[in-house]
Amino acid sequence: MSLNNISSNRDEWSSKTAFILAAAGSAVGLGNIWKFPYITGENGGGAFVIIYILCVIAIALPIMISEVYLGKKGKSNPVKSLINISRSENVSKNWKIIGFIGIVAGLLILSYYSVIAGWTMAYTIRTASGVLNNIDVNDAANIFNNLISDPERLLSWHTIFCLITGFIVAKGVRSGIETAVLRLMPALLIMLFALVIYSAIEANFLQGLKFMLYPNFEIVTWNTVLIAMGQAFFSLSLGMGALLVYGSYMPENISVAKTTFIIASLDTLVALLAGLAIFPIVLSSGLEMSQGPGLIFQTLTVAFAGMPGGQLFGTMFFVLLLFAAWTSAISLIEPFITYLMSKYNISRIRASFISISTSWVLGFGTIVSFNIGSNIRIFGLTIFEFIDYLTSNLLLPIGGILISVIVGWCISRNTLKNDRLIGENLLSFIWFISIKFVAPLAVLVIMLNAIGLKIF
Ligand code: TRP
Repeated sequence: MSLNNISSNRDEWSSKTAFILAAAGSAVGLGNIWKFPYITGENGGGAFVIIYILCVIAIALPIMISEVYLGKKGKSNPVKSLINISRSENVSKNWKIIGFIGIVAGLLILSYYSVIAGWTMAYTIRTASGVLNNIDVNDAANIFNNLISDPERLLSWHTIFCLITGFIVAKGVRSGIETAVLRLMPALLIMLFALVIYSAIEANFLQGLKFMLYPNFEIVTWNTVLIAMGQAFFSLSLGMGALLVYGSYMPENISVAKTTFIIASLDTLVALLAGLAIFPIVLSSGLEMSQGPGLIFQTLTVAFAGMPGGQLFGTMFFVLLLFAAWTSAISLIEPFITYLMSKYNISRIRASFISISTSWVLGFGTIVSFNIGSNIRIFGLTIFEFIDYLTSNLLLPIGGILISVIVGWCISRNTLKNDRLIGENLLSFIWFISIKFVAPLAVLVIMLNAIGLKIF
């Protein structure tokens, strides 16, 4: 399954499956397996999960359909796509700001994403070498703390991850993204199912299930809601132009809404499976639910250590996670690369070099925030936490509001009808109402309340 070159010399996905797999490759990544369990743990479990799922359905899904649609219609990089659309719809060209916000958000996210992907690489090597066999909970904590307290080691892994990502993106959409996703996603899913089964047999499964599903709304604040919504944006790769770029490679005859729905469901399934696998192990091994970004690294190594064949199984798991991270990282940087290429007329190789180097340098902030720079605080947050909050909870949702407004209010109904987004059935009507009113207002209300302007 490969990309065909069409006459306008833009790549186009060879088939619907290829588009679904690439977009799913972008969506499924560290966000589902690393971030979802740890922030669910930090935010008390059940209620957070329910709010997360509601955000996916009521807010993220309608916006996601719109973002893919903007790409399919604009047929270019995020900035140029919006210029194209504003021209044909006769609205202000300033909408291209969506593209710029997205480029900044993508760079910032990738800057820490590749540091965490670096941890995954470190753990792949350690698991494979057998040094993690027979360790206990304390060993797991020490090993993790040793890793993150050493800036040089973090920098090395971050650099390796950036180099390989740069190499993949420099080779172009065609060979890099598709082939990897196609083969590895199913394997990752099987692995996760296997881990859930392990948890069910060996760990505190019912307790874990209860933690994840039994809601305690008393501990929910507006900030919890904002974090859950930000996670929905993050996990679905939404609001920064990644889906827009992938949508721009989409063939005409494919339904945006249906394919987007499949991707969102798959992504949510993976996050929930990760939770089901991790929480029972956390509870049975006596680890802290709310320990933060180290959660999966510590729980999983303890689990693999106590499992027959854990060394092999663990290595395979981390390798797959690493590949999931790659397919996501590619989509974080692809909007910037396509923008640089068309704006400055430079080669893909040069554009890849510029964009990856930028994100590599930005990554220093995250690296030191776990060790020598852990005292540096921005609004009370470490550098890593600040970048994460800024991107997931502010930039992506703002991108989401703008996407909703341009699709819901600026593009004419006739155009939406011609493009078969509305007018077909009840679902399309519900989508239209949500993109016009529900989604943008909900995002706005949640953001304003969480940030302190309690106006409602
Ligand atoms: N969704 C990915 C994950 O869950 C991360 C990601 C890739 C992303 N592309 C994105 C997040 C664009 C926000 C925007 O790991």
